Amino acid sequence: MERFDAIVIGAGAAGMFCAAQAGQAGLRVLLLDNGKKPGRKILMSGGGRCNFTNLYVEPAAYLSQNPHFCKSALARYTQWDFIDLVGKHGIAWHEKTLGQLFCDDSAEQIVKLLVDECTKGNVTMRLRSEVLSVERDEEGFSLQLNGETVTAKKLVIASGGLSMPGLGATPFGYKIAEQFGLNVLPTRAGLVPFTLHKPMLDVSQTISGVSVPSVISAEDGTVFRESLLFTHRGLSGPAVLQISSYWQPGEFVTINLLPDIDLAEFLDAQRADHPNQSLKNTLAMHLPKRLVECLQQLGQIPDVTLKQLNVRDQQTLVDTLTEWRVQPNGTEGYRTAEVTLGGVDTNELSSRTMEARKAPGLYFIGEVMDVTGWLGGYNFQWAWSSAWACAQAL
Ligand code: FDA
Repeated sequence: MERFDAIVIGAGAAGMFCAAQAGQAGLRVLLLDNGKKPGRKILMSGGGRCNFTNLYVEPAAYLSQNPHFCKSALARYTQWDFIDLVGKHGIAWHEKTLGQLFCDDSAEQIVKLLVDECTKGNVTMRLRSEVLSVERDEEGFSLQLNGETVTAKKLVIASGGLSMPGLGATPFGYKIAEQFGLNVLPTRAGLVPFTLHKPMLDVSQTISGVSVPSVISAEDGTVFRESLLFTHRGLSGPAVLQISSYWQPGEFVTINLLPDIDLAEFLDAQRADHPNQSLKNTLAMHLPKRLVECLQQLGQIPDVTLKQLNVRDQQTLVDTLTEWRVQPNGTEGYRTAEVTLGGVDTNELSSRTMEARKAPGLYFIGEVMDVTGWLGGYNFQWAWSSAWACAQAL
């Protein structure tokens, strides 16, 4: 039987960062993962360049039933702290848009940073490790692995959420929480594309690959201004991924496809100068031609010249294009979702240390708990901040 000061389950963003910090503070740390390499989601993230944090991190960018919970950790280990660490490892980065920071070269650099930090802390990392059981004893926690028992005074669960089961996601963390009597809030896929019913699905399929700037709103009033992408299954792109976290089945989303102009003013000005110009060609000055053609085939854009467009039809057109109401059929689910909403109820945890109130010595960090960030580096920042806060307390 091997004894450690702390065992961390999950060698993802949160688990590796926590293990490294604890190891560097002098603890004997074991880091376990079911996969054959660490940080698999990091490698996939940001199109292979890892959007590792955001310049504008603030608690309002996180969804949780307990919105105050994330404040302490985010304030104590900030985006600037992680940017500093990235700099110390000589990793070049750039801001892409909206404060989103990416590696210039590759997400592998972030995994290497974390592995190097773990090595500096003498962390024992065991991959392809399945945890068969977790028991509490007088010393702390005793874990049965394939063929061996390991023990530690402190146990940190960093096993993530349910999104992308192909990358090793399991409900392990929720099961451990329930085993120790903690409440787990219902989970659902977040930052995920929408699927559509026909006939909207036909439109999306026909113009699959077309992207437009948009302003998208959910029924709860949440609004994002980002681009929207038509796909062969429905709608995607940053605008849709963001709003998906605020959408409930059965609800509508409202989309302004022309957020950068006043459409009525534009049509009036064009009519004054070019009365015989077709409405289709006029709209194609601001919208992809294929989208205009498709909406015309669906009867949502009349086949007329500007002088033939009467006041009532113009108002209907403005409403259609700037307050386009879409009722998604559903989402693509955990298969393609970037994150999992819900999870271990933060009311069960200390916001300072991430320790379970009902189970001293047991900690939860990262995505396994009910804290979910916006798209754009916010989720990795939560992994770093919650991991750091926990490591200070081990
Ligand atoms: P994470 O999921 O990273 O790690 C959990 C680890 O636990 C995994 O290695 C898993 O194999 C292991 N595990 C699970 N069950 C286990 C068990 N039973 N036994 C042992 N090990 C177990 N965020 C962001 O801020 N910027 C970005 O660019 C992206 N991009 C992105 C792309 C894609 C494709 C996805 C799916 C997600 C993102 N995200 C993101 C979200 C981000 O990846 C996510 O929020 C963090 O990885 C969460 O970190 P955790 O360490 O909590 O879980």
